[in-house]
Amino acid sequence: MGDASRVLTVDRARAFYDRFGARQDGQGFYEDPALDDLIAHAGFGDAERVFEFGCGTGRLAERLLAGHLPPRAVWLGCDVSPVMTDLAARRLAAFGERARVWRSDGRIAFAVPDRTVDRVVSCYVLDLLSSEDIRAVLVEARRVLKRPGLLCLVSLTTGVTPLSRIVSSLWRIVFRARPELVGGCRPVRLEAFVDPACWQVRHRRVVTPFGVPSEVLVLESLPVATETAANDSSHAGDRRKLRSLPIVSDRPMSGTSSDGDARRRFDPLHER
Ligand SMILES: C[S@@+](CC[C@H](N)C(=O)[O-])C[C@H]1O[C@@H](n2cnc3c(N)ncnc32)[C@H](O)[C@@H]1O
Repeated sequence: MGDASRVLTVDRARAFYDRFGARQDGQGFYEDPALDDLIAHAGFGDAERVFEFGCGTGRLAERLLAGHLPPRAVWLGCDVSPVMTDLAARRLAAFGERARVWRSDGRIAFAVPDRTVDRVVSCYVLDLLSSEDIRAVLVEARRVLKRPGLLCLVSLTTGVTPLSRIVSSLWRIVFRARPELVGGCRPVRLEAFVDPACWQVRHRRVVTPFGVPSEVLVLESLPVATETAANDSSHAGDRRKLRSLPIVSDRPMSGTSSDGDARRRFDPLHER
């Protein structure tokens, strides 16, 4: 049986994370090195508005607001689990108007207007979603991101070292047998979903603390031909700031599609 049929429905994911609640923070032993790497490459010091999809307990948001975002920057976040949104709201209350969290209904439709955020962040959420929903997240991220803007992702992935290959293989076996035992998460290769006509890979790394492999991916949303030259030049300063971030990975990726049909035409064979 493949992974696709084992992906949790929204109701099952919500029920699991309602039960799991604050225990999510115990995953830091393998999540934190990946989040450190993300923070080091996502230029949060230049961001004014950040949207986080699947914010969990708000642990990353607290870290960003307390130490990485400019003092007036705003963080917006959603999660499908009411227990998680309550935990996040309590944790972030001290930041007042700078932090806003809401409960979403599980559909991949961000309640954020077009072109209004500098960063879209999602950590350990896309590995819970179907391939179709992962593609939908990328389309939504492009819709809400300003140009230039960065999509900042972390996900469980397939191993790259002998130990991490064993861990990800075992993880997949458990996922296929009983997905709830691993929180509905399975190893995915996010890079395989990236349409090079829409995104430039500004950073990619797989980190493997304790043998658990996580893919860190920072993507810059590229302007398409229909986006006017005037719009481009008005954001030249922002683009220069992003350009000053080092590009760690610029490996060309296969496949092409334009913004509108990204969901239909990209069908990466990432799931074995
Ligand atoms: C593994 S946890 C990660 C939480 C947090 N991002 C972190 O890194 O600690 C996955 C989170 O995604 C949320 N989630 C799952 N499916 C979702 C959906 N369709 N829409 C929004 N949130 C979702 C869960 O409720 C849970 O809080």
